[in-house]
Amino acid sequence: MLSNDIVALTAKYQMRNYSRFPVVFVRGEGARLFDAEGREYLDLLGGIAVAIIGHAHPAVSRAVALQVKNLVHVSNLFHVPVQSELGRIVSESTIGGRVFFCNSGTEANEAAIKLARKWAADGGKRGAYEIVVAEGSFHGRTYGGLSATAQPKYHVGFEPMLPGFRTVPFGDVAALEDALTESTCALLIEPIQGESGVRMHPPGYLKEAERLCRQTGTLLMVDEIQTALGRTGAMLASSRFGISPDVVTLAKGLANGLPLGAVVAREDVAAAFGPGSHGSTFGGNPVCCAAAKAVFETIGAPGFCDEVLRMGDILREGLSEIASRRTDVRKIRGLGLMLAMEMEGETKEIAGRCLENGLVVGSVAGNVLRFLPPLTITAGEIRHGLAILRDSLPAGGRK
Ligand SMILES: Cc1ncc(COP(=O)(O)O)c(C=O)c1O
Repeated sequence: MLSNDIVALTAKYQMRNYSRFPVVFVRGEGARLFDAEGREYLDLLGGIAVAIIGHAHPAVSRAVALQVKNLVHVSNLFHVPVQSELGRIVSESTIGGRVFFCNSGTEANEAAIKLARKWAADGGKRGAYEIVVAEGSFHGRTYGGLSATAQPKYHVGFEPMLPGFRTVPFGDVAALEDALTESTCALLIEPIQGESGVRMHPPGYLKEAERLCRQTGTLLMVDEIQTALGRTGAMLASSRFGISPDVVTLAKGLANGLPLGAVVAREDVAAAFGPGSHGSTFGGNPVCCAAAKAVFETIGAPGFCDEVLRMGDILREGLSEIASRRTDVRKIRGLGLMLAMEMEGETKEIAGRCLENGLVVGSVAGNVLRFLPPLTITAGEIRHGLAILRDSLPAGGRK
């Protein structure tokens, strides 16, 4: 089938909730993608932070093929070795405590929200039900995740949102202090806000947030869906900001593209989920768990995170160099290999031009270009990507 026919087929039968570029990808390898015409692209978006160890990573492909041959699904009424092993790995690699597996980021946050309320109701903080979230946050599209997403544009037409969510202004410690009351069971927060344009909290804010949570007996729930697994040069971005969450949510790169999410919670908090309190048919599916084990083996290798930081520096320096020759770049920001270039104007067209020139980048929050490449990207690939980006930016913005 020709690319145009595929684009037309999607347009005819699928709901119009995505705004897609008219490119048809058929294959990936590391940080490279290939379209239906055999054209090669460099992928600096990584399926929006999902292809964390690169497309078609051999260790993932092998693990998945073997698991598919043996057992695809059996339900959570029974034990499966690969899920049991992954539970230990996820717990030990993050905050300790217990793990609940689901299928996506929004489901992980949904479970965390339920867990926080149940923990409070069970005696952790009786009478507390409110979840405090930060302005500009993104926590998913189901009603729990959406209600926690403090960006009105995502709510339009879907109101009313669930009760029991309170938004605090971005980066304002005093406002957070006022918001955390005897009714608050948890603060749900991203270490870096991804979907609103790689927004970094002011220095010290997360540490203060942690202190206020401890002071008020509020759970510190950190949404690491976009930031975890080496993305910022550490297993959790929380550790880069010196905070110790009570609950962490994971998804995106967890199984390198297969659908897997997880909630990790401190032992006493996790105790709130007894038999029957929460569940998922597909959650912790053996095939996804096999892929995730391969991910942890890869990112847990000695020196992996140091290399992420080194590649992050190369990308950041290259972006800064581009910015220094332009009048239309406001700021370069981010951490590790989660970086952004904030522009004066809209970036959707720029992302389209990059694509035409063989480079995949993200356009987010209107005027931001976002970079979330596979963490296995090489210095040579980054330099190649920077060269394409340089040529794809509007001529009018050059100094
Ligand atoms: C921080 C954060 N939380 C939650 C989600 C929702 O994840 P999913 O799309 O897998 O439901 C996303 C997705 O972009 C995210 O970046």
